Amino acid sequence: MTTRILTGITTTGTPHLGNYAGAIRPAIVASRQSDADSFYFLADYHALIKCDDPLRIQRSRLEIAATWLASGLDVERVTFYRQSDIPEIPELTWLLTCVAAKGLLNRAHAYKASVDKNVETGEDPDAGISMGLYSYPVLMAADILMFNAHKVPVGRDQIQHVEMARDIGQRFNHLFGQGKEFFVMPEALIEESVATLPGLDGRKMSKSYDNTIPLFTSAKDMKSAISRIVTDSRAPGEAKDPDDSHLFTLFQAFATPGQAAEFREQLLQGLGWGEAKQRLFTLLDAELGEARERYHGLVERPADLEDILLAGAVKARKVASPFLEQLREAVGLRSFRTQVQVASGSQKKASKGPRFVSFRETDGSFRFRLLAADGEQLLLSRGFADGKAAGAVSKQLQQGGELDVRVEGQGFSVWLAGDCVADGPAFADAAARDAAVEALRLALQPEAQ
Ligand code: TRP
Repeated sequence: MTTRILTGITTTGTPHLGNYAGAIRPAIVASRQSDADSFYFLADYHALIKCDDPLRIQRSRLEIAATWLASGLDVERVTFYRQSDIPEIPELTWLLTCVAAKGLLNRAHAYKASVDKNVETGEDPDAGISMGLYSYPVLMAADILMFNAHKVPVGRDQIQHVEMARDIGQRFNHLFGQGKEFFVMPEALIEESVATLPGLDGRKMSKSYDNTIPLFTSAKDMKSAISRIVTDSRAPGEAKDPDDSHLFTLFQAFATPGQAAEFREQLLQGLGWGEAKQRLFTLLDAELGEARERYHGLVERPADLEDILLAGAVKARKVASPFLEQLREAVGLRSFRTQVQVASGSQKKASKGPRFVSFRETDGSFRFRLLAADGEQLLLSRGFADGKAAGAVSKQLQQGGELDVRVEGQGFSVWLAGDCVADGPAFADAAARDAAVEALRLALQPEAQ
């Protein structure tokens, strides 16, 4: 069984060393595990909630995309995309908005913090609060539920959002699933072992404290930030305490155990802080120099980055688009064509029997599925140029008669007048396949419909 891992990165800033050690590096390592199916995306719709500076949004998306790729993310292995390239996300957000309880969203920490701040300063409680901020957790639930993620690596501040995704998903399952679970229940993944890096002043490295060390901008920037790391005032020759030095903590996060032990020893022996900073720079430059080169290569070719992300979006939409089709179907946003078919039989019987569901692919072609009464897929049609052609084929199948089924390997296909019009699913063995062909024949008998 593969585990689907999904996480989003809000595109409002430039990645720093803390983001690298705390999120990027562990995510890339996790994506290399053989049972991982990773989805990583730029949460640029979320960025709009926090930032109304278009240039900053634009720059940050590019920098974050280039950072992940330069750091070794393999886009063949993982699905890497921009949230805003997936129109199914806002569509699902609406379906979920219609089942999310307002009371649930009232309790979201981020929204409550803004209200509390307003109240404290004597403002109207809703001052400066957009619907985007209020609905933030629903958009995030759509990100997660769209791809049925099992594990969602996030920081502690996001645990509540993942829990809300579970709540909302569960409610949707309950209301529309008819016994079927549309959505997998996601779990937040908090990596205890992952380094939270201290910043220049020793507090957690964070843009909001203005204490970050830049990651890939330039060696010079990195060097000048390192020179500003706060240390105690011990002179060269005096013993330093590595366990009370965030410079040492930073070093350790990028060093081998051997290098860290050596550095510790040198500090104890009285290495000067100036020299120690130089050692840290040398280490970081050796660890990150090549990736920095790749980063600048990528940023200079934004058209190539665009292609990579669009290819990622195609990959993601292959999952999202048919799934959303099922969800639309579940809530009643159904094609009139299938409704006509339902109405032509006896209403009561038809709703219990197998049904045809037609939909449109992202490439514009028309297809249909035949679903058994329990929702199991019996057939998936080939793509047709127009809805009429697809409708004619499903109608012909529905009329029964001798079915031309051709078995091939563990699968089968259905033919009409010399053309292959639809395929069955792939099966583990021939017996399962034959049972499915039998189920298909039964489903297409007039009395089943
Ligand atoms: N809200 C997350 C953050 O600020 C980013 C995010 C958006 C996200 N959608 C997500 C994280 C889905 C995990 C899953 O960190």
